Amino acid sequence: MSKSKVFSLAGLLLGVFLLIGCSSTTPMMNETESQPPVASQEVIHTLTPVDTQIPTEIQLPTETQVTVETQQPGSNVDYISGGLLYDDWMKQLEVEPPEEDQPLWKTQTTNARSGKDTWRCKECHGWDYKGLEGAYGSGSHLTGFKGVLDSVSMTEDELLAWMDGSENSEHDFSAYFQEAELTLIVNFLKYGLFDTAAYINADKTISGGDSSNGKVLYNGLCAACHGEDGRMLNFGDEDEPEFVGTIAIDNPWEFWHKASFGHPDSQMVSVLKIGWSIQDIADVLTYSQTLPTE
Ligand code: HEC
Ligand code: HEC
Repeated sequence: MSKSKVFSLAGLLLGVFLLIGCSSTTPMMNETESQPPVASQEVIHTLTPVDTQIPTEIQLPTETQVTVETQQPGSNVDYISGGLLYDDWMKQLEVEPPEEDQPLWKTQTTNARSGKDTWRCKECHGWDYKGLEGAYGSGSHLTGFKGVLDSVSMTEDELLAWMDGSENSEHDFSAYFQEAELTLIVNFLKYGLFDTAAYINADKTISGGDSSNGKVLYNGLCAACHGEDGRMLNFGDEDEPEFVGTIAIDNPWEFWHKASFGHPDSQMVSVLKIGWSIQDIADVLTYSQTLPTE
């Protein structure tokens, strides 16, 4: 372990303890009133593996962000809207998909999709932002491409270089994104990513969520559009319906992303924008897994 690693790990521990100790007085964006028992368990849990994510209640889950004050976004930085671009920038920006497949698509053969899907960030990097190392590491979405969670340790300039083709000319979105949109996606990558492994297990069950609080949250917000049982909006069709409950069970990572950032080009709200905490999202996901799937 390098000296700086040791140093940052020590800082991380200190940061975590400070956060827990001060959480009632620090004006954290996603402060919750009740601290879930999972926080302390997970803190212990993160000490052994590498250095990735810290599942505290705060929005910014990484080592750098917790230990280095200046890594946190200013209050005027919009790191949420870019989540809609990550989901489906063509839908969100109401632009026609490029005619050809994304140029990097041909470097893989395992994912048989073509056209529009090949341009969606999530198709290559995953709903869990982990690419090959996450849920898209197998199955029909497998491409073998890496995830984007390392973005949090890159500078904004480095991230921009990834987006505009300077880093890899086949990874160039500058012809489709305005400058302001490039900034939104960079802000999302740097400040908006969250490693859901703190709550979502590989078998798609949820740890550390409070279903009864989730029910209150769901009925107070989501039910207005999705119905109390989640069946008011059908994302599938008559024969193969897809409801909130279906997504919660089949693809909790997608659920997490949609709830956090909203659904592209729709009325759906981003719960992060209205001040929900990470714990609130876990709670509503836990409850939503009890809703009907058909
Ligand atoms: C067709 C698949 C594909 C799509 C679509 C795609 N990427 Fe990538 N992305 C890649 C590949 C492959 C790499 C690694 C390329 C390399 O190493 O040169 C990469 C690298 C990156 C990196 C650098 C990651 C790192 O840790 O080095 C970031 C950040 C990134 N992509 C973000 C995005 C965003 C945001 C979008 C959507 C606007 C997007 N990507 C769309 C395939 C894709
Ligand atoms: C203002 C209305 C509105 C509210 C409030 C709302 N949604 Fe949505 N939601 C939508 C619409 C519209 C869609 C897109 C439906 C479609 O594509 O057919 C959607 C889509 C979704 C999807 C993804 C569907 C897919 O295509 O995979 C999920 C998951 C979801 N909502 C969950 C939630 C949750 C959880 C809440 C509460 C935190 C919530 N929504 C609140 C309107 C809303």
